[in-house]
Amino acid sequence: MEKKNIDWENIGFGYIPTDKRFVANYKDGAWDEGGLTEDPNIVMNECAGVLQYAQTVFEGMKAYTTEDGHIVTFRPDLNAKRMVDSAKRLEMPPFPEDKFVDAIVQTVKANEAYVPPYGTGATLYIRPYMFGINPVIGVKPATDYQFRVFATPVGPYFKGGVKPLTLCVSDFDRAAPHGTGHIKAGLNYAMSLHAIVTAHANGFDENMYLDSATRTKVEETGGANFLFVTKDNTVVTPHSTTILPSITRRSLMYVAEHYLGLKVEERDVYFDEVKDFAECGLCGTAAVISPVGKIVNHGEEICFPSGMEQMGPTIAKLRDTLTGIQMGRIEAPEGWLKYI
Ligand code: PLP
Ligand code: COI
Repeated sequence: MEKKNIDWENIGFGYIPTDKRFVANYKDGAWDEGGLTEDPNIVMNECAGVLQYAQTVFEGMKAYTTEDGHIVTFRPDLNAKRMVDSAKRLEMPPFPEDKFVDAIVQTVKANEAYVPPYGTGATLYIRPYMFGINPVIGVKPATDYQFRVFATPVGPYFKGGVKPLTLCVSDFDRAAPHGTGHIKAGLNYAMSLHAIVTAHANGFDENMYLDSATRTKVEETGGANFLFVTKDNTVVTPHSTTILPSITRRSLMYVAEHYLGLKVEERDVYFDEVKDFAECGLCGTAAVISPVGKIVNHGEEICFPSGMEQMGPTIAKLRDTLTGIQMGRIEAPEGWLKYI
């Protein structure tokens, strides 16, 4: 398979259209078979549910070229499940999990020429999503939906690759108790835009959101979960019912325990104890695991001992092991890699 002529090493996290995308439609109470199309544009009614009341959910995952030249995706069954949970919360008809995985496979296969070669640092980002498409003017769920999957080659999410990030504690809240923080809905990201633009304008890379009920506990950022490492090398991640249950985080916690032999804890993490951790990282499909060097809370700085020049040793080991599994250099746990 001849690859596209793309400068793989230097692409950022942006949208590069690829040849084919998958489309399925829900009408009269059922999903159709769906199939691939070349048309990247969507024509819909001005009153479509997604346009008026933001009835849309999505997923994010990647395809990788392994060291021995295969193409794999990472735990797509978990994205399929999470999208079912997201859809249900917004009163949308769940897209069947087996059909979801099949749509991913079809989309990646059809865009094989865009899957970045092994060793370039780039990957193929896959974006499944679904939305209400028929006219809705009273506040209620749509009756017709479209499910789509497109793929786009991407480089690192954060500019500067693996240089430690500077975060600020946000004055804005991301998710309310009993709200939608735990699902992957566009509405969670729309309301984070003002917060991220403000953070960037103030010179920060990302926001740290605290729990909105008490503003004492660490939640997540706009697009990734937190991992912390204690001075005695325990990997800690915040427990919360209002953050997205990251698949990368679940995988890293498994890797920490079963591959690196570390103690792991998912528990309440109070902002007051953040200053005592040895390392901090952001984890997610896009972020992989990106080191955090500094967190600023209204002028008060917390600087992690690993510093602003490089990743801390445990975060580096976690990253190497996870990416090693994804790229086929390290044996994966049963069922983690889906060969295309
Ligand atoms: N938290 C938020 C808000 C996200 O958008 C993402 C990205 O998907 C994550 C966490 C990480 O989740 P995952 O590891 O499943 O990509
Ligand atoms: C992902 O990591 O897949 C996400 O959806 C995060 C987004 C901020 C790009």
